[in-house]
Amino acid sequence: MSKLKITETSLRDGHQSLIATRLTTDEILPILSEMDKAGFYSMEVWGGATFDTALRFLNEDPWERLRKIRANVKNTKLQMLSRGQNLLGYKNYPDDVVERFLKNAIFEGIDIVRLFDALNDFRNLKKSIDVVKKEGAHCQCAISYTKSPVHTVDYYLSLIKEFENAGADSICIKDMSGILLPYEAYDLVKSIKVVTNLPLELHTHCTSGVAQMTMLKAVEAGIDIVDTAISPLSSGTSQPATESLALSLQGTQWDPQLDFARMNNTADHFKEVLKKYQDNGTFNTKVLMTEPKTLQYQIPGGMLSNMIYQMQTLNASDKFEAVLAEVPRVREDLGYPPLVTPLSQMVGAQAVFNVISGGRYKIIPTEIKNYVKGMYGKPAAPISEELKKQIIGNDDVITVRPADLLSDGFEKFKEEIGSLAKSEQDVLSYALFPQVARDFLQKRQDTKETMSEDMSEDMYTEPF
Ligand code: CO
Repeated sequence: MSKLKITETSLRDGHQSLIATRLTTDEILPILSEMDKAGFYSMEVWGGATFDTALRFLNEDPWERLRKIRANVKNTKLQMLSRGQNLLGYKNYPDDVVERFLKNAIFEGIDIVRLFDALNDFRNLKKSIDVVKKEGAHCQCAISYTKSPVHTVDYYLSLIKEFENAGADSICIKDMSGILLPYEAYDLVKSIKVVTNLPLELHTHCTSGVAQMTMLKAVEAGIDIVDTAISPLSSGTSQPATESLALSLQGTQWDPQLDFARMNNTADHFKEVLKKYQDNGTFNTKVLMTEPKTLQYQIPGGMLSNMIYQMQTLNASDKFEAVLAEVPRVREDLGYPPLVTPLSQMVGAQAVFNVISGGRYKIIPTEIKNYVKGMYGKPAAPISEELKKQIIGNDDVITVRPADLLSDGFEKFKEEIGSLAKSEQDVLSYALFPQVARDFLQKRQDTKETMSEDMSEDMYTEPF
């Protein structure tokens, strides 16, 4: 037993869970050097929804954000989250895109890459593992934790063995829904510790109100690292508060020995920043309400807040409870996929359609059809022939690794985006989010042109 290590998630999952990933780079930069000196093992700052949101809503280059963060964080490891073959997007990318993307992220300063696959299909992680190892970064492989008749402890242990054999540097229990209960965590950590010596990390969410207890039991069972968020960006659908956990462990063998003055400054900074999001409604108090129903429905924080928003937009907030109840049924139909991006969105959308269209599977999104065809990988349990027929008719189901069907794509993306891309990273942004990145790159170019026109005008109007 020794000092517990802390992965600080405020700058990725913290704001992704509470304010739809809206923190801007300008809001982050002033506090980075304080965070850097607080004694965290790592800071999760990139990946997940941060990339898409930067381009789509903040008119920011996510690569530039990473460079700026790296320039201000000198002591602490920087960590990102990547969805295996999906990278930060919502579908499978060809191997050459996966390779170039991770290579660039590591080049710009990512030290630890946490990899996971929504279906725990190892084949979808293999390419990423190889690239992360080759580039010399720390490769953390995560199990997407879920509960079902097929997701037993043995199921997870054999997955972890696969990770270890492939060269993983550490393992993460990724409980994106906050459904891992305290004593389950204790047993799971103990069981994993028997089969591997790799460092073990716990990622969970406070959604259902058990995360702090779960984390403490995991600590007692010998977990090495835990994910927490600085207090203003903690709790609710986010992670437990960093300071509170550190205080709870003071005087024990697990004391993470963090600098409270630095953490208090960080908390004060984000309290101030968050006022704007409280005022403009982005920070909805609903995400802070403890929701034990999460334990029944196994709905992750981000998905819950997305669904609240979706139902509001559809003017169907009154059917929210019905949709919540439909989610586990859809999940069972589809072979118990863990509810994590992109499957959380897909299952959520199907549940919404099943409730508001007046019949189950009357409307079926293309993504669900592709899922049933095996394009996302292999579900943990088989899908019934009857439902398969209803969803994809007589279409074939693939049995190979989905990305095996894709040929190299980088050159094609590069050609498509043409001169709007000024770097390989621009092309990669485009590869992941074609329309959003094109709009961003076009805007960037227009701004540059206007600026240079303004400058030349200025030269002629100098008042001397
Ligand atoms: Co999370």
